Amino acid sequence: MPSVPRHVAIIMDGNGRWAARRKLPRIKGHEHGADSVRAVVRACRDAGVRYLTLYAFSVENWVRPPAEIRALMGLLEQFLKEREDELHKHRVRLRVMGRIEDLPRAVQRELRRVMSATASYGEGQLIMALSYGGRTEIAAAARAIAHKAQAGAIRPEDVDEATVAAHLYLPDVPDPDLLIRTSGELRLSNFMLWQLSYTELYVTDVLWPDFREAEFRQALEAYGRRERRFGDIKPC
Ligand code: FPP
Repeated sequence: MPSVPRHVAIIMDGNGRWAARRKLPRIKGHEHGADSVRAVVRACRDAGVRYLTLYAFSVENWVRPPAEIRALMGLLEQFLKEREDELHKHRVRLRVMGRIEDLPRAVQRELRRVMSATASYGEGQLIMALSYGGRTEIAAAARAIAHKAQAGAIRPEDVDEATVAAHLYLPDVPDPDLLIRTSGELRLSNFMLWQLSYTELYVTDVLWPDFREAEFRQALEAYGRRERRFGDIKPC
């Protein structure tokens, strides 16, 4: 088992608390969080991590105040505009995991444009989980399989784990090897419920806006010390 994870997924938590501690508006926390995104994308490239999935906006986040949602969408658009050159330079493919159709039109347009411009790249993949929910994803897969069964394209007795996995949002992406959650909360928050079955978990008290290259390297070092057994008695 290589000691560098092929796929790292991150629950970027604690932007609001970072801002509250400084008596700043929440959006300032998100702005600094966007700088951490830039730092971690770079750190993944340096370390040789091939897939990076970021939980940027959940299906549950739509209940937040409209001004905060607008600000988050604005930061996302800004990130795409500023970072597109870097994606091309390093041949990184941008992908979205989630209900892209829920996002504001302008953000969808920008995402689709950058996704199609980078679609042929294979050096690495930057996956943004947007309007994403693990249960929503699994329910969508179940619905698609049910439609196929109804049309006679698949037999119900043939539906197995591989069938479900093949109907998730990004079926070709390997399961995450490492999940990082910042700000100390010990929960999955509806993130990649199917794919995280055997993922190594790393939780740090550091708030996302303070999570930069050094913190990322620490997480990779902790991963390197783990023994992954996948249900076996010896490391795989
Ligand atoms: C959680 O912090 C973070 C989010 C809901 C959004 C993540 C967004 C960014 C890192 C900024 C922009 C993203 C990109 C891709 C450029 P929280 O608000 O739940 O923090 P709290 O739990 O302390 O309130």
